[in-house]
Amino acid sequence: MDSQDLGTDIERILVTEEQIASRLRELAADIDADYAGKDILVVGVLKGAVMVMADLARALHSHVTMDWMAVSSYGSGTQSSGVVRILKDLDADLTDRHVLIVEDIIDSGLTLSWLIANLNSRGPASVEVCTLLRKPEAAKVDIDVKYVGFDVPNEFVVGYGLDYSEKYRNVPFVATLAPHVYS
Ligand code: XMP
Ligand code: MG
Repeated sequence: MDSQDLGTDIERILVTEEQIASRLRELAADIDADYAGKDILVVGVLKGAVMVMADLARALHSHVTMDWMAVSSYGSGTQSSGVVRILKDLDADLTDRHVLIVEDIIDSGLTLSWLIANLNSRGPASVEVCTLLRKPEAAKVDIDVKYVGFDVPNEFVVGYGLDYSEKYRNVPFVATLAPHVYS
């Protein structure tokens, strides 16, 4: 899908395909250096992190095991509920594993802080976070995120895995939507 397929739905492109690809290569190099000699259990948070996982994992030289978790903190709209529910749990046992949570975006941080506590309770060797996007102005909890792709303004964004009512996940860049899409 490209800009032409989107008609007038997109308001502004915040992060281009090229910027995403090159930033993920930088993050992968940092991760490889930090985890030298260790196996990493990368945990992708469905569904938004699918694209980040696919591209980040392929840019890593480290040995990784990929696992997935689905949690819900949002309905079909754009507001965080703060209530987190596990929709699909991990297959892997986390005991003594180096866990790297891969996220699409950290907004209020409520989902992630819950997730970090949950995974930490399972006896891992370590838990760190890699997120493509972060909205610093939206933070409601302070989380130590080791790997951040881009800070973005406090606006609802779509693309590269991120959706609005399940649409726009296959847009290859990150963008804001035109107001008419919401009405
Ligand atoms: P919180 O507020 O708990 O939100 O940090 C985390 C999850 O909410 C989703 N989210 C978004 N999805 N555009 C989206 O498509 C956005 O701007 C946005 N902000 C938050 C996302 O799934 C994230 O993991
Ligand atoms: Mg998500």
